[in-house]
Amino acid sequence: MALLEIKELKVGFKTQAGLVHAVDEIDLSLFQGEIVGLAGESGSGKSTLGYSIMRILPRNALVQGSINFDGTELLTLTQSKLEEIRGKRIAMVFQGSMNSLNPLMRVEEQVAEPMILHQQANEKQAVVEARNLLELVGVDKEKGRHYPHELSGGLKQRVAIAMALSTHPALLIADEPTTALDVMTQAQIMRLLGRIRDEFKITILMISHDLALLSETCDRLILMYAGKIAEIGSRDQIVGNPRHPYTQGLLGSIPSVRNIGRASSSIPGDPPDPLNPPAGCRFKPRCSFAKDVCSTFEKGPLYVEDGHYAACVLVGG
Ligand SMILES: Nc1ncnc2c1ncn2[C@@H]1O[C@H](COP(=O)(O)OP(=O)(O)OP(=O)(O)O)[C@@H](O)[C@H]1O
Ligand code: SF4
Ligand SMILES: [Mg+2]
Repeated sequence: MALLEIKELKVGFKTQAGLVHAVDEIDLSLFQGEIVGLAGESGSGKSTLGYSIMRILPRNALVQGSINFDGTELLTLTQSKLEEIRGKRIAMVFQGSMNSLNPLMRVEEQVAEPMILHQQANEKQAVVEARNLLELVGVDKEKGRHYPHELSGGLKQRVAIAMALSTHPALLIADEPTTALDVMTQAQIMRLLGRIRDEFKITILMISHDLALLSETCDRLILMYAGKIAEIGSRDQIVGNPRHPYTQGLLGSIPSVRNIGRASSSIPGDPPDPLNPPAGCRFKPRCSFAKDVCSTFEKGPLYVEDGHYAACVLVGG
């Protein structure tokens, strides 16, 4: 059984200019112990999907569909029941969270805080556990006494991850956990998340615009385009046999040993206006394979092979 099951999720944002179609008809399951990478360009709806699971969308959001976590429907859950899950069984490392640490608190106190708040832990005991957790994520115990400004970006991100892990969640959502870090530190953080999955046996949804980075660590990959799932499959299926032209374009733009010396291609054009997305396949204006029928293609991802689906008319013929 899936740990998290999302069905027909739609999220729109009411604005003065109209309704922003941020997430549209998403179906998705996450299973226990897997790391799933969610990739897509800026504005494709990745964070909105994460916030929907956490139920922390802003007031102007309109949400439809179902998000079932371990047998509990989250979207209709009362606030008090939600508090038993959010920040405890489901935790999130927020986009830019390493820059949102409290500058006036020692980092070990910040890691201890969720244990005190959510688990009524004794303060002394929580700090001891926080030090252990910090060590586990690669922050030396004595650095726990430091304030955020005394730590490098990589160490601050490790602190943010330790904070999210402090209540032993079953599901961790990591939104752009490596943005603003140098390439070496990015790889270290990705390896750390892999190790955390192995040690804690938790499920991780890793959000990033960097498909190359995700494909190094994740078991499965999801490609989002303009609020919809373009393609989903195991890492080998997506990297070895991409079937959606968007995935093919993204993979083609990744520099690799094979294409050194050649300019890597990028996808021409921009994503559609989320206030007024095109009918049918939303990728059509940028797709070099587009044909008339694509303007009426409204289906979700189609079967390619076991576990592998792509939302494109080219699939299956
Ligand atoms: N509160 C809001 N009100 C109106 N529109 C919003 C709001 N929050 C997000 N959006 C819009 O919803 C769409 C999806 O945004 P989201 O932040 O989920 O994208 P993302 O894939 O996480 O992008 P990024 O890679 O830049 O973080 C975008 O068009 C964005 O402008
Ligand atoms: S449905 Fe058509 S426009 Fe969309 S990705 Fe496939 S070929 Fe391109
Ligand atoms: Mg985002």
